[in-house]
Amino acid sequence: MSSARRLDWVSGPAMSLRGEVVVPGDKSVSHRSMMLSAIADGTSHIRGFLEGEDTRATAAVLAQLGVSIESPSAGERIVRGVGLHGLRGSDKPLDCGNAGTGMRLLTGLLAGQSFDSTLIGDESLSKRPMRRVTDPLANMGAHVDSQNGLPPLHVHGGRKLRGIRYELPVASAQIKSALLLAGLYAEGSTEVIEPHPTRDYTERMLAAFGWPIEFSPGYAKLEGGHTLRATDVVVPADFSSAAFFLVAASIVPGSVLRLPAVGLNPRRTGLLEALRLMGADIRIENRTESGGEVIGDLVVRHAPLHGIELPEALVPDMIDEFPALFIAAAVAKGRTVVRGAAELRVKESDRIATMAAGMRALGVNLDETPDGAIIDGGTIVPGTVDSHGDHRIAMSFAVAGVVGKGEVTIRDCANVATSFPGFLELANSCGFTLR
Ligand code: S3P
Repeated sequence: MSSARRLDWVSGPAMSLRGEVVVPGDKSVSHRSMMLSAIADGTSHIRGFLEGEDTRATAAVLAQLGVSIESPSAGERIVRGVGLHGLRGSDKPLDCGNAGTGMRLLTGLLAGQSFDSTLIGDESLSKRPMRRVTDPLANMGAHVDSQNGLPPLHVHGGRKLRGIRYELPVASAQIKSALLLAGLYAEGSTEVIEPHPTRDYTERMLAAFGWPIEFSPGYAKLEGGHTLRATDVVVPADFSSAAFFLVAASIVPGSVLRLPAVGLNPRRTGLLEALRLMGADIRIENRTESGGEVIGDLVVRHAPLHGIELPEALVPDMIDEFPALFIAAAVAKGRTVVRGAAELRVKESDRIATMAAGMRALGVNLDETPDGAIIDGGTIVPGTVDSHGDHRIAMSFAVAGVVGKGEVTIRDCANVATSFPGFLELANSCGFTLR
């Protein structure tokens, strides 16, 4: 991140958090809706599109590849699909910004094109592992050059892809999705088996766009040679953005928050279960279905939390929520133990190390382990932490500030705009004191 974008926040104690908090659209669904609309036949209308830097970067890449995308209002996109073979190559690099999802899924999509592409990203994305995607794509016949497994990625076009059966070494929806997108262009069937089920938005959305696909938790299979039909997509509110408010209201006495119409795909709501195991009072109201996804209002009230041994089976279903969970654990009564979460080390930052350093600076007693942490609940004291440009870590420490004994200064918060534009204003509207 350039120094022009450096932004620090100060979060102070709150009395109680109250009101209705409308969080922005789901990041995973927004990326996928843009990609599938772009290569569909016909015009798709997307509502609730996340106006974050990550998802806008994906839209900009597709526009650079010749797709016409209109934005009649915030959160709305009209995408004129060019069909499976209608994208046009660009001489300039395609900039995915901070977005691992953008880069990994686009790599799969671009592997089947007739033209070459170069994918680049910011400082954080340039350190993230890409072999997990380029190795299985190579087995499909793709040719992607990396810098020792890191971006920039040069995706060679004009390759004949063939379907493979692939058992993922790690539970990752991004790897699965990259292979399925390449599989659209492959001869024969592409079959993906996961060690633990991960979010299935790509599978659901391919089906909604009319592509025959077989899938069940942990498994997906499709064949090349079909077409995608333009579809209207309604993006639900992002559970991962709601997560900060679920934790904040749980730990600040006197709080009651309502978070309307949040996406409740079971592969995303692990934190809800973890917080309930810790004693949280979170209810789901007005549960309904929209665009094949379960959505509902989350109503969260303050409740005393206690530490838990986090069931490892929950890890993939809350993979983005550990920074928020760590803050809950820091003020819960007793000890919380997290294991089996080594993937946290290759997110937008090393989330175990970054959280551990920040929490220690705020007086929290914790041990870092290779695949998790052991956290003793206590009191958060004033201090300064560095988010290392990691959006979810910045927002988690903003939550630490509201429950602490004094102000928490958080360095390097500009990347919050990648997933949650308007977080500061929304947080202040329900009682945070964040500046
Ligand atoms: C995502 C998958 C997860 C998650 C990321 C979004 C997706 O990454 O952490 O924020 O949209 O597919 P991994 O596939 O690396 O687990």
